[in-house]
Amino acid sequence: MPDPKGRGKPWSGRFAKKTNPLVDAYTGSLDIDATLYSHDIRASIAHARMLARQRIIPRADANAIVRGLREIEREIERGEFPFDASLEDIHTNIESRLADKIGDAAGRLHTARSRNDQVATDLRLSTKDAIEHLMGAIYDLQSALLDMAERHSSVVMPGYTHLQRAQPVLLAHHLLAYFEMLERDFNRFAACYVRTNVLPLGSGALAGVPYPLDRASVAKELEFAAISRNSIDAVSDRDFVAEFLACAAICAMHLSRLAEEIVLWSTAEFGFMEIDDAFATGSSIMPQKKNPDVAELARGRTGRIYGNLVGFLTVLKALPLSYNRDLQEDKAPLFETYESLLLTLFVMAEMLPSIRVNEEVMRAAATAGYTLATDLADYQVRKGVPFREAHQAVGKLVRYASGRGKGLSELTLKEYQRHSPLFEEDVLGLDVEASLRARDVPGGTAPQRVAEALKEARRRLATEEGENGE
Ligand code: ARG
Repeated sequence: MPDPKGRGKPWSGRFAKKTNPLVDAYTGSLDIDATLYSHDIRASIAHARMLARQRIIPRADANAIVRGLREIEREIERGEFPFDASLEDIHTNIESRLADKIGDAAGRLHTARSRNDQVATDLRLSTKDAIEHLMGAIYDLQSALLDMAERHSSVVMPGYTHLQRAQPVLLAHHLLAYFEMLERDFNRFAACYVRTNVLPLGSGALAGVPYPLDRASVAKELEFAAISRNSIDAVSDRDFVAEFLACAAICAMHLSRLAEEIVLWSTAEFGFMEIDDAFATGSSIMPQKKNPDVAELARGRTGRIYGNLVGFLTVLKALPLSYNRDLQEDKAPLFETYESLLLTLFVMAEMLPSIRVNEEVMRAAATAGYTLATDLADYQVRKGVPFREAHQAVGKLVRYASGRGKGLSELTLKEYQRHSPLFEEDVLGLDVEASLRARDVPGGTAPQRVAEALKEARRRLATEEGENGE
């Protein structure tokens, strides 16, 4: 709610009037950017120390600034900080509190700095943390998928295309498909991290600053891998936010596909799996219901995550250089997406181990619906028939069998031979296992290949764990 008295301007020299209370309410961002406090304080400490080293401000003032900022951090953490929404954002709140604490020396902190390079720095620090947490959570979900695949390494299911039963596959092979998607998400976030890991501080409002800064030392202290090369770009660039949102959108899309299969597979119609009671909810009216709400929400939140990407790209569209206040709209989509994706990754990783797989139902479905028809065509190809011709002949065979309500395994050798003289006794031995074994190519579902893929996936996780120093 607007403060009816209007607010004082922290840098009020230029203005004869207070701002209209509605303007204060409209432009303030404290409710959203307060969470940047630790990054803001960290960056300010590095800045103040560098200013002293470069003899731009007195050492004693820098010491007072650092001490004051540390006290402020403790106040915020203890919930004792007097947040004042009339001071617009977290940066001015902290600076104003610093003046309460250390007096005039506080006025030297903003030397050689603007809120434009300040906020860009804080946001990059916070995005780096967010990426690290998300990569950890992606890793954990990959582990959960791999555990599940290893636990069910011999379970057979129908693989689908067009959501029609297509060919038998191993459940482990299907689960490893998600492992691969998440591996790409992990790497995409890692690449986004590299471009986020650049220090804008030192760019000033837009043109650079007229002081002999040591930007490299600030980058080192704040653990940035590089400093920005162009001050105009540095204060107006939010590519790292857009990229983060895009990485998140793709990852959420993958999770929504996994979630959708959990929803489908736990229906009575599929009956492939059962979600544990701890991850299902009931209905307010239908006592028999057990609903997969977690998976449904994982699917649904994807919509909001997409919305944040498209919304923010639209904020950036056609903005003139350099900083514009529109850029303040970066934080809400960034933070919301981060929290939403992180929680979704957490809850999916918790839920997977609790899922009960109905092996028998999956196996029965794997053979029903003529899923071995491709194998019959391949059988003919091995006898010299061109694939297209074999496809035609087996198509007729399937039409014949389905017309009589029979499965392929229920046909007699005579019936086979009526469709092609090339079918011999051994065609009756064709079963799911033979079909799986035959797909013995790198990346295929042959049990031996999947066993190797499981081992290889384990090794990859172990390497990544080593790299992250966990
Ligand atoms: N709250 C602002 C933001 O998030 C901080 C920078 C304000 N800069 C300015 N020139 N008004 O973008």
